[in-house]
Amino acid sequence: MHNFSFHNPTKLIMGKGTIAELSKEIPIDKKVMITFGGGSVKKNGVYDQVKTALARHNTVEFWGIEPNPAIETLRKAIELGKKEKVDFLLAVGGGSVIDGTKLISAGLLYEGDPWELVEIGSSTNTVPLATVLTLPATGSEMNNGAVISRRETKEKYGFYSKHPVFSILDPEVTFSLPPHQIACGLADTFVHILEQYLAKAGESRVMDRWAEGLLRTVVEIAPLIKENQQDYQLMADFMMTATMALNGFISMGVTEDWSTHMIGHELTALCGLTHGHTLAIVMPGTMHVLRKQKEAKILQFGERIFGVVTGTHDMRIDETIRKTEAFFRSLGLTTRLSEENIGTDIIDEIEHRFNERDAHYGEDGLVTGAVAKEILLQVL
Ligand code: NZQ
Ligand code: ZN
Repeated sequence: MHNFSFHNPTKLIMGKGTIAELSKEIPIDKKVMITFGGGSVKKNGVYDQVKTALARHNTVEFWGIEPNPAIETLRKAIELGKKEKVDFLLAVGGGSVIDGTKLISAGLLYEGDPWELVEIGSSTNTVPLATVLTLPATGSEMNNGAVISRRETKEKYGFYSKHPVFSILDPEVTFSLPPHQIACGLADTFVHILEQYLAKAGESRVMDRWAEGLLRTVVEIAPLIKENQQDYQLMADFMMTATMALNGFISMGVTEDWSTHMIGHELTALCGLTHGHTLAIVMPGTMHVLRKQKEAKILQFGERIFGVVTGTHDMRIDETIRKTEAFFRSLGLTTRLSEENIGTDIIDEIEHRFNERDAHYGEDGLVTGAVAKEILLQVL
């Protein structure tokens, strides 16, 4: 186990009816900007719950933070927030609304163009932010990361700011999620765990076992959610798993990968594919191409999650990759680029972009443009 320091200040408020707690969690003297996506919260009753809870607060609303939040939209939110002198932000939505609001929270206290913040990569000079999560997937509700897109140049990059002050997770709000978003949320959660687990063996038994507990939970609940997404206990477990998968709890003192995400972000930026879906396509390719570096961990993963125990090491690795891909397909996702009409021109562009920024992603810095190309050709 490597040295580490761990600090996660987000207060988690979990359960049925907890949106009502907004009234006492946000100080009454704050000017609050509430940020939303495209309108799902109006159909499922979340908007009404938020407005009822904040009836006595001074609020202003910003609508239209789209999936893969765009700087072009966030600039408008920052302009409104500055004009209204807001000093508290409440993001109501999925990872996109929360991520976008993290950039707004820094942009409100920044004089230049907010895209500069993305280029710098981080800012902790922020207005406090809280969230009401509506989609389990990204972990953004309990971490300090965000991913911001720029439509005009088809770019998508990470940005780090502060953790939310608190996040409200009511599993009932997930009952209205479209099946594709559930599939992508489960895939995203699964791959978040793998990015932190499928690197070096023998660094920490406790991190391994926590990660494996979460992986097994995803495999167990996925088919049940497909049958009945109105099951409160199932959706509560889904929400908890997604949050725990990317709030730092399983990465203490262990080496992480994240190359699948870096390739996935390019597929979203260039082709518009949903985030979790890109990971379902890329992850089996990463496992295949980096099978030597990851050998011990893939064997452990195969045995403990999918029960793969027979054959030579190579046979077991092949079978584990096959079962991983089959799991993603069982969610209802395609796992090959050609199924999404993505061809070698996009692969070449991603190689070019990685080379331009001299990319060396992954636990050993091995994922360069050429290796990313190899990974993508594997899943063509
Ligand atoms: O916009 P609305 O109308 O609200 O609809 C949304 C959106 O169309 C809809 N939705 C959300 N909750 C719903 C609902 N529809 C019905 N009922 C509900 N309860 O779902 C659609 C997708 O929402 P989005 O927020 O885009 O999805 P997700 O939570 O998967 O977020 C994806 C974004 O997060 C980034 C991704 O790259 C992507 O930009 N990520 C953020 C991370 C982080 N901050 O740590 C890590 C992740 O790896 C990821 O990169
Ligand atoms: Zn992700």
